[in-house]
Amino acid sequence: MGKVVVVTSGKGGVGKTTSTAALGAALAQNKEKVVVVDFDVGLRNLDLVMGAERRVVYDLVNVIQGDAKLTQALIRDKRLDTLFLLPASQTRDKDNLTPEGVEWVISELKKHFDWVICDSPAGIERGATLAMRHADIAVVVTNPEVSSVRDSDRIIGLLDSKTIKAERGERMEKHLLLTRYDAARAERGDMLKVDDVLEILSIPLIGIIPESMDVLRASNVGAPVTLADAKSAPAMAYFDAARRLSGEDIPVSIPGEKRGIFAKIFGRAA
Ligand SMILES: Nc1ncnc2c1ncn2[C@@H]1O[C@H](COP(=O)(O)OP(=O)(O)OP(=O)(O)O)[C@@H](O)[C@H]1O
Ligand SMILES: [Mg+2]
Repeated sequence: MGKVVVVTSGKGGVGKTTSTAALGAALAQNKEKVVVVDFDVGLRNLDLVMGAERRVVYDLVNVIQGDAKLTQALIRDKRLDTLFLLPASQTRDKDNLTPEGVEWVISELKKHFDWVICDSPAGIERGATLAMRHADIAVVVTNPEVSSVRDSDRIIGLLDSKTIKAERGERMEKHLLLTRYDAARAERGDMLKVDDVLEILSIPLIGIIPESMDVLRASNVGAPVTLADAKSAPAMAYFDAARRLSGEDIPVSIPGEKRGIFAKIFGRAA
């Protein structure tokens, strides 16, 4: 059975879709079988970031409503044959997602993929709670600023109460992915420091993705950044985050600093 990951945040525009595509591609580049699922019904974006917008025929809502088979809606990536996309609909209402339908789709995908990565819509309403409901693991995408951290804190509360795991009294595995980190702004005090964010949210850090034009360039050519420019700083950070998601224990380094976060906390060289 595959693992279900939700990429969530509360606040909009923090990098969920970018991260879903990059983590999904990074895992598939490592030969894992991956499907990325767009839960942002009405505002779909994942197909664009994956470069598959012209190949969308059927979507998640079609499958749930029985208008298409799951296999008809899945789009295989042109570059990586173990990477698939289940797109969202651009036109329909998010009320078209039913809890039973979502449960069925996720249970089917788990049978066929190593990883089912769900790109959550922003907010803390129905769409976000449906996206997280069946997750085994949550990646909480946060920018180093107060409003994003506050919304992530609310999402962590929902992960611990509104998911199947939480309802069964099981522990939900949660990881913090700090994105759009700008070393120069952090140095000037214009952004929260990594330690401050960690202290407020107190969930383990899975990676720090630097603010970078490489992310925009990748999205403009319709490729996850790990495929568009595998040697770029954000791509390397996403590769490391994907390895940590797979259970590898590798130190997190702060972009723009030579020493690792643990070195920073304990004040010694990494
Ligand atoms: N590390 C980064 N460096 C620079 N730009 C970034 C980075 N990560 C994301 N962005 C940009 O920020 C914008 C929002 O990213 P994205 O769409 O991934 O966020 P989101 O959380 O999915 O948004 P929404 O809540 O609307 O779904 C995009 O223009 C994206 O290219
Ligand atoms: Mg998004």
